[in-house]
Amino acid sequence: MPFIDRDFINDLSDRVDIVGLINKRVPLKKAGKDYKACCPFHEEKTPSFTVVPNKQIFHCFGCGESGGAIDFIKKFDHLDFVEAVETVASESGVSVIYDQNVKPVDTRFKRYSELMGEVNDYYQTQLKSSVAKKRAVDYAKGRGISGAIAKRFELGYAPPGWSNLHEHNKADSEKLIDLDTLGMLVAKKDKEGDYYDRFRDRLMFPIHNAKGNVIGFGGRVLSDKDNPKYLNSPETPLFSKSKELYGLYHCRKHSRKIDYILVVEGYMDVIALHQHGITTTVATLGTATTPAHLQTLSRATDTIVFCFDGDKAGRAAAWKALQISLPVMTAGLMIKFLLLPDGEDPDTLIQSESVKAFSRRIEKAQTLSSFLFDHIKSEVPFETIEGKTLFLEQASALINLVTYSVYRQQLVEGLAQVVGQDVSHVEKVVNQSKYSEPPMQDMHQAPPNFDISPMAEMVYDEPVAKKTPDNGMKGLMSKMINCVLNYPVLADDTVELRVRNLPKSNVLLELVHSAQIDDEISQQALIKPFEAKPRVYSRLQQLCVMEPSLSENEAKDEFLSALTLSEKQHQRNLTSASISTASTSADEKKIMEEIQHRKKPKSS
Ligand code: UTP
Ligand code: MN
Repeated sequence: MPFIDRDFINDLSDRVDIVGLINKRVPLKKAGKDYKACCPFHEEKTPSFTVVPNKQIFHCFGCGESGGAIDFIKKFDHLDFVEAVETVASESGVSVIYDQNVKPVDTRFKRYSELMGEVNDYYQTQLKSSVAKKRAVDYAKGRGISGAIAKRFELGYAPPGWSNLHEHNKADSEKLIDLDTLGMLVAKKDKEGDYYDRFRDRLMFPIHNAKGNVIGFGGRVLSDKDNPKYLNSPETPLFSKSKELYGLYHCRKHSRKIDYILVVEGYMDVIALHQHGITTTVATLGTATTPAHLQTLSRATDTIVFCFDGDKAGRAAAWKALQISLPVMTAGLMIKFLLLPDGEDPDTLIQSESVKAFSRRIEKAQTLSSFLFDHIKSEVPFETIEGKTLFLEQASALINLVTYSVYRQQLVEGLAQVVGQDVSHVEKVVNQSKYSEPPMQDMHQAPPNFDISPMAEMVYDEPVAKKTPDNGMKGLMSKMINCVLNYPVLADDTVELRVRNLPKSNVLLELVHSAQIDDEISQQALIKPFEAKPRVYSRLQQLCVMEPSLSENEAKDEFLSALTLSEKQHQRNLTSASISTASTSADEKKIMEEIQHRKKPKSS
């Protein structure tokens, strides 16, 4: 994401006509010097939303919402800050000045983005005019997709044959290389410079980023005899399936208000729900929900409703989503779960029951806490003492993943109610479970000089007595882990060697080691070995998200400077430790002298 020049943002508010900008979205009525309307951010019958042109601000006396033009667009159009600045600027006829020093805008991305747009046009044209189009059109009709919705989602068709997209672009060899990078063509192994089409005879679903640019595709077979049923774009410089959500762009574009976002499993679910007017829906792209997804969702809405099939796989997926959700719970965020009847998905349900009935399901979705307790209850013999003990233990471990203290306390109280015990007693159990994972548990299996105390000790603020001062080491370690999780390619021999010499670096070391073996390894695969240590695992999940997101080169710089700083800090810590452990005052004097000597070698 580009950075916008600071001065530009300051100047922008002087050059914007806030009345015109808002009036386009909410018709305003003049009232003295100001303008009024019914507030778009809460339900009201008499207007208390006021725009004050000479201050270039808006304010609602009903709900308290207020701010400048950028704040309004952010909230009303559901955009992030940069997108909102871009919108305000373009509607005011001003071109955005990006801060080239902070973030050089990579020209490759513009080129890639345009090319994906061309590919998208190509597939859409094929759905209208290819000789083989009939099967695709019949298939889409058979699934109940209306023409209008096909257009809204820009559905297309990749015709049968190995060389359609390839032929279409053959004249430009640079384009072929880019199409390979973007995952649309595949390089032939035996013939250099030759390619074949990745997507063949498939109904094509373009995947858009938040700005509406096409970054990838999913393609569905037309006959259930073929497989895989859906083929998705591979990971490319534009597309990372663990971060993107299908339909988020359409959700923002076609929803008046986003009271909640329903997270479903499939492309067709999003499309069918739109067709029935339920537009605040997104789908994960054939992957489990990731922390990055949750971060994006929580920026777009206050209420996330996970919707899964009611079968075993669906329940398991919902449970995974719950575990990922606990560490990100914050003030104002609500997460709910909707399990559908076995064998149904939103696409089949919305076609067989009324929109009202389906909406009622959404309204009645289970809260996170109730799903948490119910699920564990169903897995243990709750009626027995042993079962209740297991229940308490498992619930406590999960409650400990919550860092938002108000919510954590509510869960503890809820748990006390479920087991019918005192809150203070349950609180104790929960706290014990927090420390019952002994930090030195794995120590004896570790080779000497190989500190394997869990990362928990260095990234959590815990009342654990420290043997050595930390002096910012925790933060540096988190930074390095964050970089490696996002750019495994940073890891090399030298890095591994340097990390090995740092104290308490076992988690980073293991990540660097795995990343070195396979520099295209996914984040999930990288952190999988830590699954058995829930707190380390959940911290690693948080660190999968890069905020702000850096380019590979920037991440490399960050990583190396954090590494160098850690090494320096470690040296300093060693020195002060050797002073404090000096057994005699003579030893201490000697060390002090050495340090003095190092500082002022020539003093007499
Ligand atoms: P499902 O198998 O549940 O299919 O996959 P679906 O969404 O109901 O598909 P239809 O209705 O038969 O068309 C859910 C999602 O998982 C991903 C896709 O994103 C799909 O929408 N998926 C599924 C794949 O990526 N590859 C596959 O082979 C299958
Ligand atoms: Mn389906």
